Parts: sequence; C-alpha cells; structure tokens
Amino acid sequence: MIPPNFRKLTPVQRREVLKALCSLNEDELLSLSNQIDLSNLADILVESSIGTFPVPMGIATGFLIDRRAAFIPMSTEEPSVIAAASYGARLIKGGGGFTTWAYEPVMTTQIFLKGVTKRTIDGHEKAIGEQVDQIIPRMVERGGGFRGVSAEWKDGTLLISIDIDVRDAMGANAVNTVAEGMRDFLTELFGGRVLMAILTNASTNRMAGASFAIPVKLLRKGKMSGHEVCQRIVEANEIARSFPERAVTHNKGIMNGITALALATGNDTRAIESAAHFYAQQSGRYQPLTTYQLENDQLIGKIELPLSLGTVGGTTSFWPASRFSLKLLSNPDSRQLNRYAAALGLAQNLAALFALVTDGIQGGHMKLHAARIAYSAGARGGSIRQIAETLWNERKLNVEDAKQFVEKEPK
Ligand code: MEV
Repeated sequence: MIPPNFRKLTPVQRREVLKALCSLNEDELLSLSNQIDLSNLADILVESSIGTFPVPMGIATGFLIDRRAAFIPMSTEEPSVIAAASYGARLIKGGGGFTTWAYEPVMTTQIFLKGVTKRTIDGHEKAIGEQVDQIIPRMVERGGGFRGVSAEWKDGTLLISIDIDVRDAMGANAVNTVAEGMRDFLTELFGGRVLMAILTNASTNRMAGASFAIPVKLLRKGKMSGHEVCQRIVEANEIARSFPERAVTHNKGIMNGITALALATGNDTRAIESAAHFYAQQSGRYQPLTTYQLENDQLIGKIELPLSLGTVGGTTSFWPASRFSLKLLSNPDSRQLNRYAAALGLAQNLAALFALVTDGIQGGHMKLHAARIAYSAGARGGSIRQIAETLWNERKLNVEDAKQFVEKEPK
C-alpha cells in the first residue's frame, strides 16, 4: 500500500517505497530516474534515434475503483494534472468510489475493395472466419480471434470489416496482419482489387466506462453549499452539450488523465485520442464524454468511451518504465486497464469542473508555477517547494524575488 504521506516524500524516497511495493528490478528503478541508458532500446523502436525524451511521471492516489484501492501511474508534462486526478478521486471515494465496466477487447480491421463483382458476404462468414483464425493462430490459442464480418457498399467501394478479439494486446499489429493477409482471399471471393487494408482506430466495440455517486454535502466549497456546487457542475456539463467548442476543452481535460496513463503504460496515445474524439462526435454534434445529474441529494457522474489500451506487446512490455506502471497496477489485463482509464478520465473531469465552477483553476496552476519559478531562481531539492510556498503566499511570482529567497536559504 502506498503510504498516505507519499506526496510529502522526496522523489528518491517515493521510488524506495515503490521498489518494495512492486518488486521493481534494477532496470525499472533506474529508468524512472533516467540513470539507465535506453538508447539501444530507443534505436530498436524508432528510425534514426538519438536518445530518449524524458517526461515527468507520477502517481495519482486516492482512487477506490470497484471497491479496491488503486494507484495510477501517469506521464505528463502538464503540472496540475496528477494533483487534479488525485483530488477528483478523493471526492469520489467519499461516495464509495468508482464502479467501472469494459467490453471484450474486439478491434476491427477494414479492407477496401474496388471494382468488385459481388457486394454482400452471403454465407461466406464461416470461410472468412476460418481464414482469419489461420493467420493469427497464437491469438486464437490465447482465447481471441475472429468474431464477425460485415460488408458495406458506398461510392464504388466495398468495405469489408472484420472484428477480431485481440485479448490483452492493443491489437493494431494482429489486426493489420489479418487485414493484409486477407487480400488474396477476399479478391477471390469478391472480385476486383484491394486498394488498402488497415484497422480502424474508432474502436467502438471496445467500450469502457465508469460512474460514481457522491452525496452533495461532500461537495461544499468555502461559502458555496454542496448542493450549489453540484448544480453548477451539472450546468457546466450541459454547457458542454450546447457549445461544441467548450466540449472540446471539457474532453481535453478528460484526456489529460487517460493519455497520461496511456503514455505511462507504453500505449499508443494517438489511437486513444482519435477514438475518443470520434466517439464524441458520433451523434453528428461534438459532445462531452461525461454526464452529470443531481439525484436524491447525490451527484451522479458517468463516462463512457472507446478505450483500446493493451497490456502486452508493443512498447508496453518492452520499455522498463511501462513495465513498472503495469506492476503498480498489479499487472491488469487489457479490460481492467481500460476500466482504470475510464475512472481516471472521470476523476480528471470532475476535478476540472469542480475547480472551474468554484475558485477557478488559475490559483492551483499558479501555485505549481511558483515551483518552476523557484527552480529557475536556483532553488534545488526540498527548498523548491518551500520557496514556492513563500512566493505564492507573498504573491511574488517572479524570478528576481525568488532569487532573494534562494540566497537566504542555509547552504
Ligand atoms: C486543462 O488542461 C484542462 C481544463 O481546461 C479542462 C476543462 O476546462 O474542463 C481545465
């Protein structure tokens, strides 16, 4: 269990806690503090690599997900994101935590044919399914494989969509292997030629979601009653339904969390983002991914979106820091990881709305900014936070004033 004072420890002390907690090996531990040369791994992963680009990594605490405590690894360059996730999670814990769900990990590949002589699948489902499973026998052994096929004719193109259960993988590799491996088989069945074959990142079969219910009295903030805060949150969400440009920022806040977890676990952040935004506009109008209601003196919050984070394959098990992330989450399967991601996105959104409809977000941001000013003025180690606190309390958020505080620090 991560101790409640985790936030107050130094980074070295925090890593010591994690070493014991997650039985980290030396590579994983050293990679968190950039003390290991990853250039060989980087060179395998990308063309013309010159090294690695470290991004801050932290742990969001306070999560109670399906009645179990969870500590969520997050990689992000944005200062307030992890603090906000933990804040949102604590509010939600007061109401009993998150309830989450996730569908089976089914991804879809698209094969586009031109000049076909036939436009329907018509009894060929079984043959197509057998052919697909022959291309990915190891996936079938693991319990995945072919789940269905459909055809759609539009503008002179026949689209064949094949659904594949990819188990714990993100699935792009398996699904694209099938897409390319099916070219000849499909041209024999339908005539014409395959123009291209690739997965769709829409991932709408792979939905996940989370919900919570918080007694409104727990939402009280300063002079604002819990009831008023709750109503304001509901209104803020309605505004995102009415104004698409607001919905974009609303959803950006949600993805602040989900993308940070995706990056920390070595997942494809762009795939996750594009699926979320595709889903948000599916009604024909770009909509928020969350809903909020006031019901029986409780704020009910919900999120649902397509999520295709994987826990095997790709960079996930290759990169030491993402292996650490999965250990911290007790080595979840893909569905479990997507459930965590949904809960995290909801916590992030609640924290953002809570701040926006009460004190605003700039106060919190500026407090964190003060730490950067202290660093720029020469503060190091534990004195960064102390000087930042003084700068914030005295509202002296500039490097010149900060330097004076740094000079006064005992050397
Ligand atoms: C900032 O990264 C995210 C927010 O703008 C989200 C929102 O406005 O809902 C605070």
